[in-house]
Amino acid sequence: MVQENEFIPYGRQVVDEDDIREVVRALRSDWLTQGPIVEEFEEAFAAFTGAEFAVALNSGTAGLALACRVAGLGRGDRVATSPITFAASANCALYVEADPVFVDVDPHTANLDPENLKEHLKNKSALRGVIPVHYGGLPCNMPEIYSISQKFGLVIIEDACHALGATYQDPKTGETIKVGSCRHSHMTVFSFHPVKHMTTGEGGMVTTNDRELYNRLQLFRSHGITRDPKLFKNQEMREKYAGQVVPGYYEMQELGFNFRLPDINCALGLSQLKKIDEFVQARRQIAQWYREELGASTSIRLPGESDASASSYHLYPVRIPFDRLGQEREKVMQKLHDRGIGTQVHYIPVHSHPYYQRIGYDSKTCPCAWDFYKECLSLPMFASLTRNQIRRVGETLVDVLGIGGDA
Ligand SMILES: Cc1ncc(COP(=O)(O)O)c(C=O)c1O
Repeated sequence: MVQENEFIPYGRQVVDEDDIREVVRALRSDWLTQGPIVEEFEEAFAAFTGAEFAVALNSGTAGLALACRVAGLGRGDRVATSPITFAASANCALYVEADPVFVDVDPHTANLDPENLKEHLKNKSALRGVIPVHYGGLPCNMPEIYSISQKFGLVIIEDACHALGATYQDPKTGETIKVGSCRHSHMTVFSFHPVKHMTTGEGGMVTTNDRELYNRLQLFRSHGITRDPKLFKNQEMREKYAGQVVPGYYEMQELGFNFRLPDINCALGLSQLKKIDEFVQARRQIAQWYREELGASTSIRLPGESDASASSYHLYPVRIPFDRLGQEREKVMQKLHDRGIGTQVHYIPVHSHPYYQRIGYDSKTCPCAWDFYKECLSLPMFASLTRNQIRRVGETLVDVLGIGGDA
């Protein structure tokens, strides 16, 4: 818990005595990894999101990589994603030798713009997949992305590493849909890094409603090995051991990985998941406090919202016209840091990183992403922040920017 006057980081975990007790219980059990808590966590997570299946992994990055792999994306396939994201959303395509294609963002929300996706499909060579990123916790327009993707047979993998607990409305029925239910995608990927809505230390989860994908996710998570007789390729063993545990026999059927999440981490995850509604509610309350603090400013633009969706606020990225105010973002961040407030930049457009430059990407594409990047600054956002701390962040920011008269 961050005390009122201490340094306020931009993000941090909330871990309490219940969580610690559950982890200790796992440590005292017979299983540190591959035990019963993994499945318990997966079942509870699937129930929370409304998906049929959930597969726990040791990071969100592992989840994205595996989702691409099991969806059959591979060499030469083009996979669209947004440049305003963490590098992993695009790197996962490279892992399977596919090519990320950066589609420009909606200037209001910084989410992948379905209109640009449409244009891309019209004008450029074919895509095989799309990885919409729910930036900051605000869901992309999934019904629209789904409808476009259906026409072109695209694989849809939602990068929901920012969006656990977020919802959007079905435009046809008005029904509220939870991110992770995979209503408009094949798979959805989450991260449990400590700055996220809930944590397992490191960790991630992929949800899906497709049994075949579920089986493949499980297989690839653990070396491509199965011990389940009904999945054996060896017919004799399959028939002989149907429904039983087989002593001393298993099959490596694919070139998989060790992406498993240990029971110790799943115990923390299961305990944190019990509080997820509280965590998301707290973040929404903090967003409301920021609106009260900064909503009247004519210089600071608050994060884009959408009538059709409810953000779960992994981030609180405001937009500040640093150039117009005669300010440099790095210096503003340093001054805020010196006055006890941590901030971050989410994100440097992925296609401009040195690695992407080296492999031939043109950093000048996606002008809306660049406009967004130049102005964005993520203010502290985590569930245990207090009203007074948000006041301190707001007042310090206004003071550092010298825009006291703007509000
Ligand atoms: C949008 C996005 N995708 C993927 C990831 C990767 O998740 P992890 O850190 O659990 O590997 C992150 C992590 O910050 C992220 O923000």
